Amino acid sequence: LPAPTTVHVPLAESSYDITIGRKLLGNLGQLYKPRARQCCFVITSEPLRELYGQRVLGGLEDGGWTSEAIVVPDGEAAKTIETVTWVCRTLAQAGADRGAVIFALGGGAVGDLAGFVAAVYLRGVAFIQVPSTLLSQADASVGGKVAVDLPEGKNLVGSFHQPEAVFIDTDTLDTLPARHMRAGIVEVLKHAVIADGELFAFIEDRLEDILAKDAGALQHLLACNCQIKVDIVAADPFDRGVRGLLNLGHTIGHAVEAAADEWSIYHGEAVALGMISESRLAVDRGLCSQAAADRLETLINRLNLQIDLRRVDVEMARTVLRRDKKIVDGTLHLPLMHDIGETRIVDDVSLDELDSILCDALRNEI
Ligand SMILES: NC(=O)c1ccc[n+]([C@@H]2O[C@H](COP(=O)([O-])OP(=O)(O)OC[C@H]3O[C@@H](n4cnc5c(N)ncnc54)[C@H](O)[C@@H]3O)[C@@H](O)[C@H]2O)c1
Ligand SMILES: [Zn+2]
Repeated sequence: LPAPTTVHVPLAESSYDITIGRKLLGNLGQLYKPRARQCCFVITSEPLRELYGQRVLGGLEDGGWTSEAIVVPDGEAAKTIETVTWVCRTLAQAGADRGAVIFALGGGAVGDLAGFVAAVYLRGVAFIQVPSTLLSQADASVGGKVAVDLPEGKNLVGSFHQPEAVFIDTDTLDTLPARHMRAGIVEVLKHAVIADGELFAFIEDRLEDILAKDAGALQHLLACNCQIKVDIVAADPFDRGVRGLLNLGHTIGHAVEAAADEWSIYHGEAVALGMISESRLAVDRGLCSQAAADRLETLINRLNLQIDLRRVDVEMARTVLRRDKKIVDGTLHLPLMHDIGETRIVDDVSLDELDSILCDALRNEI
């Protein structure tokens, strides 16, 4: 078994490590040791409890933890104020004190909910991320943003709360459905386009191995990916500057995702569409070569995302776009690709320009 890779996250107040490798789940109690008689709570959803609950709880107990699972609704349904209340009450009834530690076992939804609970319960307790989807391993578990949704919109109630550690066990991807793998790779591609041409070339070279869940390829992919996100987050922990680069593809992507009926388009799929159409804008403005934009589009096409644009309400997408929080006085700070591995924020993109690329994107399928 190859040794795990560690990516260090240097933050002024709370540095921690991201550990990426195989067979971590059953060893969490050794990898993260308790103080004497310490309690932990594993927040997870039913499918994950069924697949990995025993392995995780057993490993924690072996390391000396007293552990208990708290099972929340699966997927986005976990991210409600009601679930926060219920989990906090469950913790209080179990006598969880400031020394309790919360483990988040699941995808980005469980991670966002558990992290938010950890941020607010007793004004903050420690938490550990154990992400189990490619999207959460590549993106959601890194950076310290935690949030739940309101009926008025996603992630409207949240905080910054850094984990004590992140354990990315690539073995968990064995059970992840192919569509989630393909959508998750898009966020990795995004990080590569922002800052790492070599990672982009690696994905071009090894895409089939990655999709086939080759452990060595995944470990390299995630280590490079997390290093990029960590560098950006460390430079801008509270999202006031360069972190805006991480919105690449997300302005158009978010509008498409929100206007698809019953969330039928996955986040990563919508971001793929957003990256392609925003790269066309970059070419039109003379910022990026046609060859670089074509290279991105070719790689995304190889992912074979089956995006059904007939399920997107065009007028609703345009409305969502107009309400984008990042638009001030009709212009927007938009990250645009200048080359593979180089993205910069452009501050004079008009709403009309964006509206026109959104309409183009919704007319021709990718
Ligand atoms: N905090 C951040 O910075 C950040 C960044 C990006 C996304 N997010 C959030 O992440 C969420 C999306 O995360 P997601 O894509 O991981 O979706 P998810 O958490 O909803 O999980 C998707 C599905 O995959 C299943 N699943 C998870 N791991 C599995 C495994 N190993 N095997 C089989 N099935 C598995 C889950 O049960 C669920 O049904 C959104 O709520 C989004 O807002 C947060
Ligand atoms: Zn995203």
